[in-house]
Amino acid sequence: MSLQIFRTKHIVSHGEAIHGLKRCLSAWDLAFLGIGAIIGTGIFVLTGIAAATQAGPAIIISFVIAGLACAFAALSYAELSAAVGGCGSAYGYSYAAFGELMAFIIGWDLLLEYGISVAAVANGWAGYFNNALTAIGIPLPDSLTKAPMLGGIINLPAAAIILILMGLLIMGVKHSAKANNAMVAVKLITITIFIGIAMFNVHPENWQPFMPFGWFQTLPDGKTTGVLAGASLVFFAYVGFDAVSTAAEEAKDPQRDLPFGIVTSLAFCTVIYIIVSGLLTGVVNYSELNVSSPVAHALTLLGYNWGAALISTGVISGLTTVMLVLYYGLTRIIFAMSRDGLLSSFFNEVHPKTQTPVRVIIICGIIMALIAGFVPLGELAELVNIGTLAAFVLVCLGVIVLRITKPTLLRPFRTPLSPLFPVLGMLSCGALMAFLPSITWLRFLVWLVIGLIVYFTYSINHSKLADPD
Ligand code: ALA
Repeated sequence: MSLQIFRTKHIVSHGEAIHGLKRCLSAWDLAFLGIGAIIGTGIFVLTGIAAATQAGPAIIISFVIAGLACAFAALSYAELSAAVGGCGSAYGYSYAAFGELMAFIIGWDLLLEYGISVAAVANGWAGYFNNALTAIGIPLPDSLTKAPMLGGIINLPAAAIILILMGLLIMGVKHSAKANNAMVAVKLITITIFIGIAMFNVHPENWQPFMPFGWFQTLPDGKTTGVLAGASLVFFAYVGFDAVSTAAEEAKDPQRDLPFGIVTSLAFCTVIYIIVSGLLTGVVNYSELNVSSPVAHALTLLGYNWGAALISTGVISGLTTVMLVLYYGLTRIIFAMSRDGLLSSFFNEVHPKTQTPVRVIIICGIIMALIAGFVPLGELAELVNIGTLAAFVLVCLGVIVLRITKPTLLRPFRTPLSPLFPVLGMLSCGALMAFLPSITWLRFLVWLVIGLIVYFTYSINHSKLADPD
């Protein structure tokens, strides 16, 4: 997805552009788009945290479980993206399947997914940025690189990068599919360097004990641990494959290419994650990995300082794109909801000079910068996951509902073995939600309650559906 495309859509949605969107993305462009949005903080940072505190070397199994849940959801996404089409995204599908209230709830979930994801990825970015500063001899003090909960004052680099991106988006940064492909290449080279070095430095004894935290348990402080809890944390690494479905209007042949893009990018990333997490826990002991830049850290421990430096550079640039795409995705969902009357038209303004939705960009940027500065990565990722998983459950349900309510709808791609696969998707995503800590549930419920208040006090009276004309 190019940000240019996102921007064009905003303009189109306001009737300020007369041209339709160009159908220029091939099946492989879509797959690359998915890979660009998927690979990020999840694999480069959370793998270390989850291995050290929840799963040990069995983090591989956590990735397989989370990948499986995503695969079921991805098949449902593929069916809906090809059948319902439109501007894509779960928000649009749920409008078709369930009507306004559910669409609002999913849209509200997606705001959580995209908004908090940006803050979470900024945290991952900051970890590698600090690592790079330390490597060149100008480390920042802990008080400026850690959230208060971790003993610091503020994670300044994480907040700062979001404000910088905010400035870029206000100026209407152009970011093409070509640039996305280049960034994907950077990330893949980074991963290849790690695999190339790590595969010759594995010490199989590091894989023992394989499952030091067991399958699942709740700790006295309410946190969860074990392979299943690890799966519900590293699920974050897969967040983003749904971005492919938002490119429906730019795909050359969306009905054929969207399912391909979604499934291919997800399958590719799953394989990469299994290899990287297996090697990471094979080259150093899992207990060493609870740091903010574990992949680079592992290479430093092995004595490959140049490898660590290359990886940090690759991660810093690669994660910048992930944040840009997610940030833009967020503004786009707010746009769609405000266009449908579910959120105030205040958010619907495009600045006449920059042609960008300046208000939304600034408000979101400041809120996300504050969150990124003051809340640690693990908590943010869990919150993203619960919102995303809830949306996935509803997307799977949407497939079942639409098969019943609109049996004759043209479905160029059909989820295999429906309703079995959608049901398995709902169960597996629901189970991953259940393995998240109670505090995450509480935060999620608070978010939902706020959403329902917004819906019943504002949206229901202002929505397009409420308007008799
Ligand atoms: N999947 C994306 C990441 O891991 C959000 O950074």
